[in-house]
Amino acid sequence: MNIFALTGAGVSAESGLGTFRDKDGVWTKYDLNDVATPEGFARNPALVRDFYNARRANLAGAQPNAAHAALARLETALAARGGELFLCTQNVDDLHEKAGSGRVIHMHGELAVTRCHHCAATWPDTGSLSADTVCAACGRAGGARPHVVWFGEIPLFMDAIEDALARADLFVSIGTSGSVYPAAGFVAEARAMGIATCELNLEPSANAYVFDEKRYGAASAVVPAWVEGVIAGL
Ligand code: APR
Repeated sequence: MNIFALTGAGVSAESGLGTFRDKDGVWTKYDLNDVATPEGFARNPALVRDFYNARRANLAGAQPNAAHAALARLETALAARGGELFLCTQNVDDLHEKAGSGRVIHMHGELAVTRCHHCAATWPDTGSLSADTVCAACGRAGGARPHVVWFGEIPLFMDAIEDALARADLFVSIGTSGSVYPAAGFVAEARAMGIATCELNLEPSANAYVFDEKRYGAASAVVPAWVEGVIAGL
């Protein structure tokens, strides 16, 4: 059995990482145009670096929760039976990896990776982004940015994502508001291909009506229960 799982900020909410559009979400405190667009970085790179340095500090102390752990168990159980869990996350945190998931597709990039704005080289980095950082690849300073896909930029791994979606037997969306495309369009693509769809979220998402099955509640409770049911049925 092949399962395509799409996760969003809601899967990491109980690990203490903020979501974006909930009542006290990140985008209620910062204007995304200032800190999550190439134009914002060009206008005020120091503000953008400070924003992501604060999120790196927050991530440093975060631990995966039962939802992340359940998805790691699902990956193992499916692989043991010749199947696959294609775990595609919109999140830039590393909590799926910390929970033991072996293959995580970060379509919006990774917070703990720095990219050189001049030459696009990337390197693992949990330290502070600074204008003084000299890129080891091109030798230029002033270009350090997070390896995070900003609004107006192209999400990563889209070919692999479309291939995985086409071979899935089940599409499950976990902890996402269904507000940002192309991720928010995956469920409609799955449905058009006759693939069963399931939403696991705190509350109905913007495209809840598209899903065959829906379960609502905190991810740390809903996801393990759903995973145990899937594994029992394998
Ligand atoms: N358990 C399950 N779901 C939860 C929980 C929880 N404990 N807490 C919140 N949620 C749900 C909310 O109900 C909401 O539907 O998680 C969803 C979070 O939605 P958003 O804040 O919009 O986050 P997300 O969908 O991941 O945003 C997508 O937008 O800002 C960009 O690139 C950014 O990847 C992000 C993308």
